[in-house]
Amino acid sequence: MEAASYIPKNQNPKLGETAFWQAPSNIALVKYWGKYEPQIPANPSLSFTLSHCKTKTKVTLQEKAPHLGSQVAESQNGTSEFSFDFKFEGTAKPDFHPKIKAFFNRVHSYLPFLSEYHFSIESENSFPHSSGIASSASAMAALSLCLLDLSGEFPEKGDSFYGKASFLARLGSGSASRSIQGPLMQWGNTPSIEASSDITALKYEEIHEVFRSYQDSILLVDKGAKVVSSTVGHGLMENHPYAAARFAQAHSQIALLAKALKSGDLPSFIHIVEQEALTLHAMMLSSSPYFILMKPHTLSIIEKVWAFRKETSVPLCFTLDAGANVHLLYPEQQREVVVQFIENELVAHCENEQYICDSVGTGSSPVFE
Ligand code: PMV
Repeated sequence: MEAASYIPKNQNPKLGETAFWQAPSNIALVKYWGKYEPQIPANPSLSFTLSHCKTKTKVTLQEKAPHLGSQVAESQNGTSEFSFDFKFEGTAKPDFHPKIKAFFNRVHSYLPFLSEYHFSIESENSFPHSSGIASSASAMAALSLCLLDLSGEFPEKGDSFYGKASFLARLGSGSASRSIQGPLMQWGNTPSIEASSDITALKYEEIHEVFRSYQDSILLVDKGAKVVSSTVGHGLMENHPYAAARFAQAHSQIALLAKALKSGDLPSFIHIVEQEALTLHAMMLSSSPYFILMKPHTLSIIEKVWAFRKETSVPLCFTLDAGANVHLLYPEQQREVVVQFIENELVAHCENEQYICDSVGTGSSPVFE
């Protein structure tokens, strides 16, 4: 698909209507790191969609003017084109307005009604505040789903609806394109996956049963704000001495991972996933300026995971985001033994002994009140 094919011929928004959607977070197995305008990934990625960590967003379509909310948005954003108000967990959050405005600007040609109405947006997360878990993926996915639903372009919520929602979400935050469906999503053109695309993520279907109920326990090592925003992080790949090799590696990792996902080959899965996590951090360690996003506790957890796996042969592995938290990935069957291991040996490395047990999920859904 070309981006131009997402420009609608016909949209049918209705004043007073409300759309209410929830979208989950996701954790990349093959990491997206590096991008070009407009949000085109420098390399392909593949992720597990999560289940419990999610954002719920409600958007109501109102008359554009004269509306008090629109005046607030106008005076603070210095724009008269878009009109919206935004509440997060019940509180007005004007500091989010520039992000929403930038997103509206990016998707305007695909949702022309954005400049015609006032949008009242309310959002909440199921995961704790400042847990260091990226919320932009679930937030941008939920907002995109609401806006597309309100546009009235797709009375049926089928593949075309979810495809365009992923396309829109990508323009908000790259990884958000992968938060629409599940249990696995692939984004970024790559020769080994026929329908792969740089502009929209696809539900990745060819997987062994074991991966449909995979677990992700997120160990909250550092709940502070990210040291490096993902925008800055992607930018660091521009003049990175190892960029070309990294981008090429991601293509081969996807091809190898596809085989392991199909056959249920856990040793290969573990090898690829851990190598990807460490490569992402290696890119940050070797960029200019350079960063260390892991904390001493991150390394202690990794060492304990390796020792535990060697001792018990439990197929437990880790992955990392662009931060210090550790995601532990394992088959559902091993839940009891892994949770025991976390309780006995790993909670001591978590801030306030906090961790979140999540699992792979099927993606976004409408919320019925
Ligand atoms: O979607 P962004 O711009 O926040 O980037 C996400 C980057 C990583 O989380 C580090 C990797 C990924 O593929 O999700």
